[in-house]
Amino acid sequence: MSEKDLFTSVQLGNIALKNKFVMAPLTRSRSDEKGLANDLMAKYYAQRAGAGLIISEATNISPYAYGYAMTPGIYTEEQVESWKKITQAVHDKDGKIFCQLWHCGRISHKDLMPNSVKPMSASIVKAQAQAFTKNGKVDTSEPQAMSHQDIKNTIKDYVHAAKCAKEAGFDGIEIHSANGYLLHQFLASNCNRRDDQYGGSIENRTRFPLEVISACLEVWDPGQMGVRIAPVSHFNDIETEDPQKDYEYYVSQLNEINLAYIHVIEGHTGEQRKTKFAFDYQQLKNKFRNSYMSNNCLDLQTANELVQSDKADLVCFGRKFIANPDLVARFKKGAELNELREEGLYGGDETGYTDYPFMDS
Ligand SMILES: Cc1cc2nc3c(=O)[nH]c(=O)nc-3n(C[C@H](O)[C@H](O)[C@H](O)COP(=O)(O)O)c2cc1C
Repeated sequence: MSEKDLFTSVQLGNIALKNKFVMAPLTRSRSDEKGLANDLMAKYYAQRAGAGLIISEATNISPYAYGYAMTPGIYTEEQVESWKKITQAVHDKDGKIFCQLWHCGRISHKDLMPNSVKPMSASIVKAQAQAFTKNGKVDTSEPQAMSHQDIKNTIKDYVHAAKCAKEAGFDGIEIHSANGYLLHQFLASNCNRRDDQYGGSIENRTRFPLEVISACLEVWDPGQMGVRIAPVSHFNDIETEDPQKDYEYYVSQLNEINLAYIHVIEGHTGEQRKTKFAFDYQQLKNKFRNSYMSNNCLDLQTANELVQSDKADLVCFGRKFIANPDLVARFKKGAELNELREEGLYGGDETGYTDYPFMDS
């Protein structure tokens, strides 16, 4: 039995996983206006507990974090209670689940903010992107540049959410620093125009994300924490001038913190692994001593190749897990996969959510 067999167990920081398949964080918008998790969500996650690790859908850390209606939160007592049935359902199936902590920053709209304030970001640079209010898709609002007090308050919000995730029974947390959301907005040179200690050099642009991550160490052991990054993805109107240099610096700092893993979206999220920027992921991996999780447009063969050639320790699948609750069992058997359907991808009921057939049904 090879150590590099995707179907065998692996240690991720403090946590032993039953296999090397990870279910990607996937926003499915089945929550409600209070940001609560519910029984339907518990069923959906339990169906997919064959994954070695599930990363929850992105989960809002505060009322100011939202960019999409009907997404869950992890900052009120009621939300904590509601998530307990999900973590329990996954644990009952011998699975593990991390909570992805989310702040959308400028990928939002005033209608989603308390008192209709402007959404927060690094600088006043509006995104050419869309948010989702209860009335549907809308262009994002112009953001406000975060003051030093806003930065302090937001770090506190992350720590509070990290505590809530622990209380809700999650096995760990993943800090979302990808896909053009708040932490990515500080990292990326196209939307961070600050001239204080949070802007300009990469040391400055990583300061806020690193402060957030370090602050969460008050709650979680680094062996139960990971960070998601997307060095060259331009999803949500994000771009940085020198991704290789920037992300090697960021990852070297994450290495100092001794986080369990980095979760890397290789290429443009959901579209392709190759982009106009050539990026050396192996070099990035070499900067980090702990686990490297690879994601984006993988299939079983490419996933195998990555692990066999030491280019990844864990492999993460998104859309294939949506369409195949028993993805790992199907892979193991070489069975055909269900196709993804657009219907019910975001919002709705069990259709397109919990009704994808299992192999033996
Ligand atoms: C419906 C949907 C929802 C998504 N929601 C999230 C999310 O909440 N957090 C996140 O980091 N990425 C999110 N993503 C991106 C996926 O995690 C993943 O990076 C992407 O689908 C590429 O992986 P795949 O080719 O295996 O699907 C989402 C993607 C899809 C299709």
